[in-house]
Amino acid sequence: VDDSGTRIFDLHMAPGESRIKPGSPTRTWGFNGDHLGPTLRARRGEVVRVNVRNSLPETSSVHWHGMHLPAIMDGGPHQSVEPLDTWTPEWTIDQPAATLWYHPHPHGSTAKHVYQGLAGLFILDDDEVDNLDLPDEYGVDDIPLIIQDRAFDGDNQLDDAANLFSGIGVLGDEILVNGTHSPYLDVTTRRVRLRLLNGSNARVFNFGFADDRPFVVIGSDGGLLPAPHSLRRLQLSPGERAELLVDFTPGETVVLRSYSPDLRTDFFESRSHGGDDTFDILQFRAADTLTDVESIPDELVPVPAIDIEQAVTTRTFEMAGYSLNRETMDMNRIDFAVNKDDIEIWEIENQDASVHNFHVHDVQFQVLSIGDQPPPPHEAGWKDTVQVYHGSPVRIALQFKDFSDPNMPYMCHCHILYHEDQGLMAQFVVL
Ligand code: C2O
Ligand code: CU
Repeated sequence: VDDSGTRIFDLHMAPGESRIKPGSPTRTWGFNGDHLGPTLRARRGEVVRVNVRNSLPETSSVHWHGMHLPAIMDGGPHQSVEPLDTWTPEWTIDQPAATLWYHPHPHGSTAKHVYQGLAGLFILDDDEVDNLDLPDEYGVDDIPLIIQDRAFDGDNQLDDAANLFSGIGVLGDEILVNGTHSPYLDVTTRRVRLRLLNGSNARVFNFGFADDRPFVVIGSDGGLLPAPHSLRRLQLSPGERAELLVDFTPGETVVLRSYSPDLRTDFFESRSHGGDDTFDILQFRAADTLTDVESIPDELVPVPAIDIEQAVTTRTFEMAGYSLNRETMDMNRIDFAVNKDDIEIWEIENQDASVHNFHVHDVQFQVLSIGDQPPPPHEAGWKDTVQVYHGSPVRIALQFKDFSDPNMPYMCHCHILYHEDQGLMAQFVVL
């Protein structure tokens, strides 16, 4: 923090080598290290400035996924950082406490840059959440988990050859958690908070414990839910986050798994998109004595419903193949404009048997319906990325506030990174 109170971060993107598996080290890319990046953390009301330095052999960018900020600070494909250059965005944190993340967003190369290891969490805090009795000791009972699938070649190098049958890019057959292969966590408290990020390029995870114990979902992409909600399975598509509370008993060992995800597509599509795949994600090893915890609050934070009676515009987005509304991304074409402060309803459709989701920059939105159903309770909070199944259009409500710029667009796109790179992305300005 400097004299004026600005919180300053340095992020240095560079190639490295990481010992992930026995044998040869894996060539990776990282922020401030060989692989992945540090967890950045800031509080509502703070001004943050990031010095993003690029020592990669390629042009990149760094996008603050889930962050409400001016388009020029967003780190999308228009905020390129050339090799040896430094980009210094600055903005004020003005949104609820949440688990956000950051990753490169250079047009056409996002999949490669993320796959090489460029990703990190950006945790936001606020007083409201501090006042709830939730586990919040980082790395002790508040655990960040960046979960990614990777494929390795015979020499331990990352293999990003796209899967020809799926059309969704690479699906890895091994799992890394915070860059670690075959991970375990020593548990010292009865209850642990997990901040889950599906940081995969294409794979959908369906999290659950091997003994089927329930866990409590307390947060979605953009902050805490209005109330905790107990589940045994939680599906997250690429880019989505969730915060969970899980209870342990002394001396036990239990595994967090990913069960076969329900992709709601046909037999062949499902299989080629990972619909049959299961993985062990992380083993928890509880100590013989565990620190006691408070009970879980009945109410978390208010999530005031966006007033859709006031909606002035409805837009439809059709995802088909690598196109959005029949066009592929063109850096020189603004696809639409929204007016600041207008409440809008977007209806998003997946016209393929393929897997898609949908992410919108700058805002946290609310899911109104999935097909003809209301969203499940764990998706009833703030979201910036939502799964979109074939045959079940998703309606969301959103409102762009505070920032307008006729010349600099935000993005909306499928977060299957191969789809995004192929052009399943549009750009819009806020006026
Ligand atoms: Cu996580 Cu447009 O990206
Ligand atoms: Cu897609």
